[in-house]
Amino acid sequence: MRAVRIDVHGGPEVLTVREVADPAPGGGEVLVRTVASSLNPVDWKTRAWDVGPALPATLGWDLAGVVVASDSARFAAGDRVIAMSAQLATGLGTWAELVRLPERLLAHAPATLTLPEAATLPLAGTTAVQALAALRLQDRARLLVTGAAGAVGGLAVQLARRAGATVDGLVSRPEHIEQVREFGACEVACSAAELPRGVYDAVLDTAGVDVSCALADGGRYVSISDEPLPDVPGAAKSYVQESGKDLAELAALVDAGRLRVRVAAHYPVTEVRAAHERFEAGGLAGKVVLLF
Ligand SMILES: NC(=O)c1ccc[n+]([C@@H]2O[C@H](COP(=O)([O-])OP(=O)(O)OC[C@H]3O[C@@H](n4cnc5c(N)ncnc54)[C@H](OP(=O)(O)O)[C@@H]3O)[C@@H](O)[C@H]2O)c1
Repeated sequence: MRAVRIDVHGGPEVLTVREVADPAPGGGEVLVRTVASSLNPVDWKTRAWDVGPALPATLGWDLAGVVVASDSARFAAGDRVIAMSAQLATGLGTWAELVRLPERLLAHAPATLTLPEAATLPLAGTTAVQALAALRLQDRARLLVTGAAGAVGGLAVQLARRAGATVDGLVSRPEHIEQVREFGACEVACSAAELPRGVYDAVLDTAGVDVSCALADGGRYVSISDEPLPDVPGAAKSYVQESGKDLAELAALVDAGRLRVRVAAHYPVTEVRAAHERFEAGGLAGKVVLLF
């Protein structure tokens, strides 16, 4: 089978698509034929930085595909599934034509999405769910999401609105304002300097911007970015954990028409270098999807 591998860290040119041995699933594992994946910032960071599993390594966290073989009572051959694999920690990358994963990482794909659309959900959606849980939002809390037009931010705005919060957003450029409003945000700013001071019960920072002056006294501050936390009492980082359960809940929300996903561009896996270049250029209003 073909897989996207790196032998060294570096720019998009270190990405190779090449033949590797088919995986052999073990007990409790499911073998999935990949239909699509999507790009996440961790993919280019794992490619470019001296981090992650020993090389050579297969990249990729998101998976949408069809079950080929299963040692699980919950998944049968032919099922459409999604999964998130923490490639950075485990080395189990999803950018391969066949992927074996423990069944606890899988959920059935949303019935109302194509598999390329569903491939945008796993890492970004799970991160949004878990970071919002870490914020422990009270009823009718006022929340600020930075990077609100991004993959995690856009889903977090929608999920927090559904949970009853009043949500404002911070975006990087004016052309993203309308989309974030459509997700349910009230006020959307383009610069941290425009934000009101001392008013938010909670902040979810996905963009690595210090917006601590917008937080009310006693408010909660959670960041998923690589940047250091601001000097706010109780400020915390949230690190995504693999969870088929969170994926199943996200899929149910999508199928109930309560959560929207966005695709900005599709690339065949043979053009994975171009996909990385597009992704790293930024300014996207949706995910970059890799097709297998
Ligand atoms: N801790 C974890 O477990 C975890 C999990 C997932 C992701 N992450 C990290 O979280 C970050 C966001 O991930 P993502 O998938 O949502 O990435 P993304 O889709 O690229 O979204 C980031 C968004 O932030 C915007 N942005 C950048 N600088 C900004 C600024 N100064 N003010 C307002 N918005 C700004 C970007 O706009 P432009 O494109 O216009 O620059 C983009 O819309 C990444 O650093 C990623 O590595 C961490």
